Amino acid sequence: MRMRLKKYLTERVEAARDYIVVGYDLDKDARNDSPLDVLDLAQVFGNDNPVCLEVGCGKGQWICRMAVSHPDVNYLAVEKYTNVIIPGVERAKRENLTNLRFGNCGVEYLPRHIVKHAFDKIYLNFSSPFPTASHEKQRLTYKRFLSLYKEWLKEGGQVVQKTDNRHFFEYSLQSMSEAGMVFDRISLDLHQDPIPNLTSEYEDRFAPLGPIYYLEAHFPSQN
Ligand SMILES: C[S@@+](CC[C@H](N)C(=O)[O-])C[C@H]1O[C@@H](n2cnc3c(N)ncnc32)[C@H](O)[C@@H]1O
Repeated sequence: MRMRLKKYLTERVEAARDYIVVGYDLDKDARNDSPLDVLDLAQVFGNDNPVCLEVGCGKGQWICRMAVSHPDVNYLAVEKYTNVIIPGVERAKRENLTNLRFGNCGVEYLPRHIVKHAFDKIYLNFSSPFPTASHEKQRLTYKRFLSLYKEWLKEGGQVVQKTDNRHFFEYSLQSMSEAGMVFDRISLDLHQDPIPNLTSEYEDRFAPLGPIYYLEAHFPSQN
């Protein structure tokens, strides 16, 4: 049964392979296997437009909508699980989205593929909150991840986060603050505020149950 599922997934990945630029292997732990090493994003997208990263894109509803709404921006979306990311990859290919590509890997495996100051924005949409203290290091706003984002963002570039989990939001505010980040915008109820917003799958499911917390933050200039 598992073999059949794996073969089925392999076929789907191969059919949409041109949309996956990092870590296409189906083994969830084999994430360093890109035939490319450092990604030339201008070559990947065929232009020099700004590039934004989404970490943990899930099934890709939000990133596909963003790519359609902002054709002058390029998007790279990473998600560690192949069975989760594949519907988004297939949708992007079906809709012929030339400004969207995917990485099927944990974001922690991206450093060998991404040069410094590659991104204008990094989006964290409903990242897994990992509520227990023993899993703190896996939270995508843990200091080790913030250090990566700092390297990857352009001067003044933003981390943009939304979550329905108040504890995780408070944790993120504290972690970003300790990393020296400056907050540009905070909302304790995104859907009630006049902030442009496209929804993700998770957001559509959980927004009816309570407020969505939102922040935009940047690292201060190094000069
Ligand atoms: C709760 S889901 C949200 C999915 C989507 N962003 C949404 O809003 O519908 C969080 C996703 O992040 C992915 N994820 C968690 N840690 C990750 C990491 N270190 N690198 C890449 N993806 C990760 C999980 O596999 C999961 O699909």
